[in-house]
Amino acid sequence: MEEHVPTRSEAFELLKEHNANPSLIRHGLAVESVMVHFAGLTGETDMEKWAVIGLVHDVDYEKYPESHCKKAREILSERGWPEEYIHAVESHGWGRCTDVEPREKMEKVLYTVDELTGLIAATALLRPSRSVLDLTAQSVRKKWKQKGFAAGVDREIIEKGAESLGMELDTVIEETIKGMQKVAEVIGLKGQIGADPASP
Ligand SMILES: [Fe+2]
Ligand SMILES: [Fe+2]
Repeated sequence: MEEHVPTRSEAFELLKEHNANPSLIRHGLAVESVMVHFAGLTGETDMEKWAVIGLVHDVDYEKYPESHCKKAREILSERGWPEEYIHAVESHGWGRCTDVEPREKMEKVLYTVDELTGLIAATALLRPSRSVLDLTAQSVRKKWKQKGFAAGVDREIIEKGAESLGMELDTVIEETIKGMQKVAEVIGLKGQIGADPASP
């Protein structure tokens, strides 16, 4: 198939085609929003590229967990996606399911925030508000050393990613929270904040 530049809507359709689990869809949307937020911070102009990568990075996860990151190459190249996009998707699993090292800024951000969005979501859901809208980086920091909390989230990956970006960990956490706040409702982290008190 001839190579083409994938659009955001194409990426979202592809994600939904391969994943029925709503939590995987929400994860894709959360990572997308954070990627776009970081693209803005770093003065990137091609926001859609960052959005697309964020959305589809786990496209193969539901059906092919054993070959995660590798099967994605097949799925995306069959659709004629550019190598740059495929490399970015593969690199988020560096050291876990691939040996593809993140090298572009876009890849380093994805590598860092993929795990971090999970820790932030888990922290938000533990609070009375069940919301990301009133969550602080400090609350997330408190969960850092509690290895039993959100045990699947590898803190070292996030630390390594922040270092590769040349950013303070606290700043990365703050900005990731901001990115998630923009889509709080669709990712199920709006909680009761802003809800109409008159509604049942
Ligand atoms: Fe993944
Ligand atoms: Fe992911």
